[in-house]
Amino acid sequence: MYPIIRNRRLRSNEAIRALVRETIVSPDDFLVPLFVVEGKGIKDEIPSMPNYFRYSLDLLEKEVKELWKMGLKSVLLFAKVEDHLKDNKGTEAVNPNGLMQRAVKTVKNACPGMLVMTDVALDPYSSYGHDGIIEDGIVLNDESVEVLTEMSVSHAEAGADFVAPSDMMDGRILSIREALEDDGFYNTGIMSYSAKYASAFYGPFRDALDSAPVDIKNVPKDKKTYQMDYANRFEAIRETELDIDEGADIVMVKPGLCYLDIVREIKNEVDVPVAVYQVSGEYAMVKAAAEKGWVDHDAVVMEQLTAIKRAGANIIASYFAKDVIRILG
Ligand code: PBG
Repeated sequence: MYPIIRNRRLRSNEAIRALVRETIVSPDDFLVPLFVVEGKGIKDEIPSMPNYFRYSLDLLEKEVKELWKMGLKSVLLFAKVEDHLKDNKGTEAVNPNGLMQRAVKTVKNACPGMLVMTDVALDPYSSYGHDGIIEDGIVLNDESVEVLTEMSVSHAEAGADFVAPSDMMDGRILSIREALEDDGFYNTGIMSYSAKYASAFYGPFRDALDSAPVDIKNVPKDKKTYQMDYANRFEAIRETELDIDEGADIVMVKPGLCYLDIVREIKNEVDVPVAVYQVSGEYAMVKAAAEKGWVDHDAVVMEQLTAIKRAGANIIASYFAKDVIRILG
């Protein structure tokens, strides 16, 4: 008790603060999301994500080499699909020569050590902008799982190390795990978006991939029948435990900052690595406020990422990964 105990002794200079610091953000923590597009020589800035780009495969190659040199060793790939290739069933998603499949090969050729994860969901491929197949205004579960399963195998065939189902259909992890086993992909992992909430923070991402639900009759305007209600906590544990039972190697909570209570809760419950996705809207808000000079960009970035790790994240998917390398110097 005071005055014997003075907590400020452990804060009195940077050296002692460094010695007692509990959470250190490191380059090893990061999974770098990358957006790919068809074409050549394209490095297209995403308007709602300043300083973040879509790359054609030739420039993707350059980018992953640069990431590797910076010490960033894992990427999460997303493909922006051309309009004429989109349909309700996401047929293009299983094209062995599709953009995603070629992107996986491009990264592996450029940088064999780079860990490649692929997004598995139909939205970029869907003419309706949904993660599954639509019939009579309903997002079908089991029919969607079939396509997602084929899609996962196709990514594994292309050389993906992990598939990352972000669709939130029921039973997809088991179906994907079984299909991977059947086809001999024993070592292809699954990072499941387990507790993925129906969030307004995905807006800029949907701009990046032109993948927002379309506004036409008989198409749900939002993803609330499959992504979770942000008011719920226990449901996140249930979703996560089921995914682990079904064969997920890594589980994820998404978005990040608004959901750190969920991250901690899940971290306390489960014994597989927990990933957190700091999503596009979180990135955009920091960039916008920093542009106006209202917050200190680098300080806010490090505070948020440290908080995500402190909450229990073992892996952080973040658009700030390169900023972190620069900030850490
Ligand atoms: C696709 C998917 C989304 C994100 C990752 N995978 C969008 C969505 O579910 O609508 C969002 C990522 C971000 O906002 O950064 N299912």
